[in-house]
Amino acid sequence: MMSFISAPTPIQHISDPRLEAAKVSLAIKRDDLIHPHISGNKWRKLKYNLQEAREQGQQTLLTFGGAYSNHIAATAAAGNDFGFKTIGLIRGEEHQPLNPTLQFASEQGMQLHYINRQDYRQRGEEETLAELQQRFGSFYYIPEGGSNALAVRGSAELVTELEVQQYDFIAVACGTGGTLAGIVTGLNRRRQALGFPVLKGGSFMKAEVDKLTQAYNGEVYHNYQLITDYHFGGYAKWTPELTRFINGFNSGHGVPLDPVYTGKLLFGIFDLVQKGWFKPGTRLLAIHTGGLQGIKGFNERFGDIIS
Ligand SMILES: Cc1ncc(COP(=O)(O)O)c(C=O)c1O
Repeated sequence: MMSFISAPTPIQHISDPRLEAAKVSLAIKRDDLIHPHISGNKWRKLKYNLQEAREQGQQTLLTFGGAYSNHIAATAAAGNDFGFKTIGLIRGEEHQPLNPTLQFASEQGMQLHYINRQDYRQRGEEETLAELQQRFGSFYYIPEGGSNALAVRGSAELVTELEVQQYDFIAVACGTGGTLAGIVTGLNRRRQALGFPVLKGGSFMKAEVDKLTQAYNGEVYHNYQLITDYHFGGYAKWTPELTRFINGFNSGHGVPLDPVYTGKLLFGIFDLVQKGWFKPGTRLLAIHTGGLQGIKGFNERFGDIIS
């Protein structure tokens, strides 16, 4: 099972005058190339969950997400590829025609159901899951964003593909904190990780990361730091400065970035580099966590901004 997934993923060195001026090196681990539809951190987080679902004899995966969620798209594709039925509980109301993310999920066979924002807040609670079991029968539950202890295990594997002594910082975008929790666990105090929350008020992320590492192996780590200044106003919020950066990065380096996660991460890294935040000689590794499926929906809403 799962042999067509291409890991270890390549590491691409970035040459850029802004980095050279600051005497900082940057490489990007291209986890976006893992799989055309189950890319980046999604594959890392789903891998052991799929295995566990199979071991439990479950035939259905049930999960939650927003209408443009990378996790919904990836879970739908994984279900299709690995022979699970999938149910996606989508925050908000149904809009027809479906946006590109939900259209894709539906084409992959995912059953979509919509829940209002108030009920969505109760998504992970036992009572909610028991009600869903009544409604849909037995399923394997994957939380929003795919983040649980098994996701930490899968994300920690990314670190085994690195020569960690070659880097001073490993940087990653954070939504629910699962990927950062995995990287921190994999680093096992050898190097420092930098998490860039893409939501406003991202300092709550520390509690999430610590909860996830504890759920995985009982440990809390201190070899990471949250950089909370690059949310651009909140989740999925953006500015022309951000989209200009994303387009310039793709044309200059051939690395496509998305406006919700990796665009904010790389923007933040370059801004910190230019502000002298990193000492000369610092070696950075950024993780490209995928999310490129979201560009189509972004362009559809805002008018072909990302090229
Ligand atoms: C492309 C992409 N990058 C980064 C993240 C952040 O990952 P996490 O939710 O594990 O913090 C997500 C969301 O899960 C994502 O879709």
